[in-house]
Amino acid sequence: MSLQLTWFGHATWQIQAAPHWIVVDPFFEENPACARSADSIECDYILLTHGHFDHVADAVTIAKRTGAEVLANYEITNWLRKQGVASVMGMNLGGSFRTKFGSVKMTPALHSSMLPDGTDGGVAGGFVVEVGQSRIYFAGDTALFSDMRLIARKPIDVAVLPIGDLFTMGIEDSIEAIKLLEPEYVLPSHYGTWPPIVQDVEHWAQLVRAETSAVPVVLKSGETFTLER
Ligand code: NI
Ligand code: MN
Repeated sequence: MSLQLTWFGHATWQIQAAPHWIVVDPFFEENPACARSADSIECDYILLTHGHFDHVADAVTIAKRTGAEVLANYEITNWLRKQGVASVMGMNLGGSFRTKFGSVKMTPALHSSMLPDGTDGGVAGGFVVEVGQSRIYFAGDTALFSDMRLIARKPIDVAVLPIGDLFTMGIEDSIEAIKLLEPEYVLPSHYGTWPPIVQDVEHWAQLVRAETSAVPVVLKSGETFTLER
């Protein structure tokens, strides 16, 4: 079974695990790093790591058009319901939810989560997405934290980590995160979108190869990584 992971720039990802499509942190229309429009995105699940605009921007419109079920923390799902999103599943840190493609577990993140209109967006999180035997870890927006070691008690096939610095961990801390997580593949996220979070991603990839056992996979916006299993 193979599994595709497409990056749309910033922290927006799509997992294709036929016949299911999962979108993480949909930010299309106002994402300067993304050429796709929200109207063109198909999915049956949407995962939201936290309430910030650059993560929830197109969640309501995509959820209403596609009928996708939105998984997010309880405060964010309350906010979505008030905007007419019918299919939501409120979760919280440490909780798992069984889906049609496998399961989703909400992991901690060190970050904030206020929604775009100022509504309390609960706490920020990340996700471990299990599809078949494969486990993908989306760290979300976060600082480095040593409990990443606990998230990796079950082996992680693919880790998606922020490297942009300023709002999240940067390159140096992401290398420490990779040492804790020991994923087979690591994909950088949340960088390059705007000048304050531009990073030298080739330098990052060199450090990953030199200092960790993971294989760095650097995508351009719109490109897809296939995990063969
Ligand atoms: Ni954020
Ligand atoms: Mn962000």
